[in-house]
Amino acid sequence: MEKLKLGVLGSGKGSNFRAIQDAIEAGELNAEVRIVISDVESAGILDLARLRGLRAEFVPPGKFRTKMEPEAEQRVVALLKSENVDYVVLAGFMRMIKTPLLNAFPSRIINIHPSLLPNFPGIEAWKQALASGATVTGCTVHYVDSGMDTGEILAQREVPILPDDTAETLHSRIQVAEHTLYPEVIATLNANQRSVL
Ligand code: GRF
Repeated sequence: MEKLKLGVLGSGKGSNFRAIQDAIEAGELNAEVRIVISDVESAGILDLARLRGLRAEFVPPGKFRTKMEPEAEQRVVALLKSENVDYVVLAGFMRMIKTPLLNAFPSRIINIHPSLLPNFPGIEAWKQALASGATVTGCTVHYVDSGMDTGEILAQREVPILPDDTAETLHSRIQVAEHTLYPEVIATLNANQRSVL
């Protein structure tokens, strides 16, 4: 079977990208990361991509804080199209996705979120979970739509909240779960059709 071509977008350290690339290099995921794009020039995810010999591009996001300017998003679309990617994988990308990108890749953009959606959408979901008094949280892989963490859910994994958890210990435990869940879900995607998960 042909490899699934991925474009990865991230703003941070890129540990989910690393987990995906590790799964590919270990032969567990029949895919290739064609390009990594960031809205943050100094983001660790770009350094990681370069270290692995992958194409890494910084796209200045423009004047908004929570989304890219339409011209910037169009630039991202052009980069992804230039690599003929099948799926766009958000891995810690900290901006909302708007119509240029949504329309260019309908039902082809996925995200990982550090809670059991629909609980705790938005930023620092693990802190929200901790503050709520819940005893279980987790992570969710979902399709991206125009809302904030509202797209159709592909898969979830539970993570316990322990009595002595801090925000940091809980976030780390969720990230361990993310790093196995995200490659597993991507492995179920197909270039020609939507996932049946
Ligand atoms: C992850 O916790 C993910 O759930 C959220 O952003 C974080 C990205 O971390 N969307 P990393 O850059 O992959 O390490």
